[in-house]
Amino acid sequence: MNVQTSPEAQAVERRRTFAIISHPDAGKTTLTEKLLLFGGAIQLAGAVKAKRGGAATRSDWMGIEKERGISVVTSVMTFEYGDHVFNLLDTPGHEDFSEDTYRTLTAVDAAVMVIDAAKGIEARTRKLFEVCRLRDIPIVTFVNKLDREARDPFDLLDEVEKTLALDTSPVTWPIGSGRSFAGTYDLRNRRVRLVDKDDAGFTVTGADDPRLLGLLPEHERDAFHEELSLAEAALEPFDLDAFRQGHLTPVFFGSALRNFGVRDLIDAMAAFAPPPRGQQAATRLVEPTEKRMTGFVFKIQANMDPNHRDRIAFMRVCSGRLTRGMKARLARTGKPMTLSAPQFFFAQDRSIAEEAFAGDVVGIPNHGTLRIGDTLTEGEDLVFRGVPSFAPEIMRRIKLTDPMKAKKLKEALQQMAEEGVVQVFQPVDGSGAIVGVVGALQLDVLKERLQAEYGLPIDFEPTRFSICRWISSDRAGELDKFVNAHTSSIALDLDREPVFMATTAFSLSYEQERWPDIRVSDVKDYQ
Ligand code: G4P
Repeated sequence: MNVQTSPEAQAVERRRTFAIISHPDAGKTTLTEKLLLFGGAIQLAGAVKAKRGGAATRSDWMGIEKERGISVVTSVMTFEYGDHVFNLLDTPGHEDFSEDTYRTLTAVDAAVMVIDAAKGIEARTRKLFEVCRLRDIPIVTFVNKLDREARDPFDLLDEVEKTLALDTSPVTWPIGSGRSFAGTYDLRNRRVRLVDKDDAGFTVTGADDPRLLGLLPEHERDAFHEELSLAEAALEPFDLDAFRQGHLTPVFFGSALRNFGVRDLIDAMAAFAPPPRGQQAATRLVEPTEKRMTGFVFKIQANMDPNHRDRIAFMRVCSGRLTRGMKARLARTGKPMTLSAPQFFFAQDRSIAEEAFAGDVVGIPNHGTLRIGDTLTEGEDLVFRGVPSFAPEIMRRIKLTDPMKAKKLKEALQQMAEEGVVQVFQPVDGSGAIVGVVGALQLDVLKERLQAEYGLPIDFEPTRFSICRWISSDRAGELDKFVNAHTSSIALDLDREPVFMATTAFSLSYEQERWPDIRVSDVKDYQ
């Protein structure tokens, strides 16, 4: 059979799975709303973030999120536009959630980078970009808020090139900014689109065209003409390969709030962004068009709906066709699992997925069977790589106000660790469990959830440890020797793998010098 025309191949070709990366306040939420409106997934702009006072979305189930007005949890939104199916994976906005964000970015094939036109590249954007770069994820840039005073477009492009070492290729060019923002000019096909008029626009002859210059107040025309002439002179054909390899970003200008430039952006995602790509498993590369279903879990979310206590594993399908009711093999245990109610997520709703293809993200309800990093296959013994766990930067002991509830606490912590909310370490000397997080806000989330979902009031106590590293050795007996020599500083993680906990960076390097055959690592792949 010709693979190119198989239903799987056709389905894969239509799919675009992406995330939006940005610094808080650049306009990610506003842009998400507008994208969803295009896709007809929501009727009501303003529905994505509860802070607007509109309808709350599924991702607003947590009190803490409402209080702080930030998106603590990662969710996925699926919508169709034109011939394409878009899976938009929401990344948490707060920098404390870098771990969660990192995992989400392992499940996308492309990203939209939103930049505030007045501010340029900000710290968080740079950090998220670095994560995308590790996997050469292609990036489409949207320069937002052109309806406000903006920096010079050349300046912004230059900043992207210099600070991110990423080539830029402007697709549109802004016609004015702030009060005089009139629209955009498509540099390659010379089409003008006018702000607040969602039409096809009109074509001009180039930077000299009086119809174009006439859109701006007289005193801005000369400068704009000079700027646009320069931009046209510097223009090169768009290099699709360089974009798909993550070396070059097409750039769009617009205003998410005014719903301007968003259609061009989504059209570009359809035209340029790659369909789902092959995923690396431990033994081989898995192609999306393969017949047999495979997928990996990058996110677990418990109790999404307080009235309906459930636990959803978000799985990216990597190949084949997932059908409702199919039997899959859980690679970690080798056990079969029936996918009786896989779900798709929309902006405000979810529905049962009858079938899903590579690039899709499905929610799989389960009672703790699935963990982050798990691989599900249609029988094959195969494990995907690349959903990592990071060494915690903050460690605390948990103080339970009601000691009778110790057993319940243990169970709750185990669940939180499986969800990836915190990491839990059991010291080998028998002292109380230590929780580790990458960002401090995770501690607040843990405390709130233990109280709200398990009725466990807790406090945190400092530990003497500030650093935690996974340890291993290729030399027989060496690891045991090290563990025995440091029992008060060793703990076991969720998979019962040992970590060494150090009080200072100095003591860690001191031990490393003394024990050259012990390997220490600050990242661990989920098994
Ligand atoms: P985020 O998710 O990246 O944090 O940003 P969000 O979309 O929440 O936008 C941050 C603020 O910037 C919001 O204003 C939003 O209305 C505004 N904004 C987003 N896009 C544009 C744009 O194209 N032009 C202009 N002028 N503003 C834009 P806010 O006052 O913080 O919130 P709200 O009270 O308006 O909801």
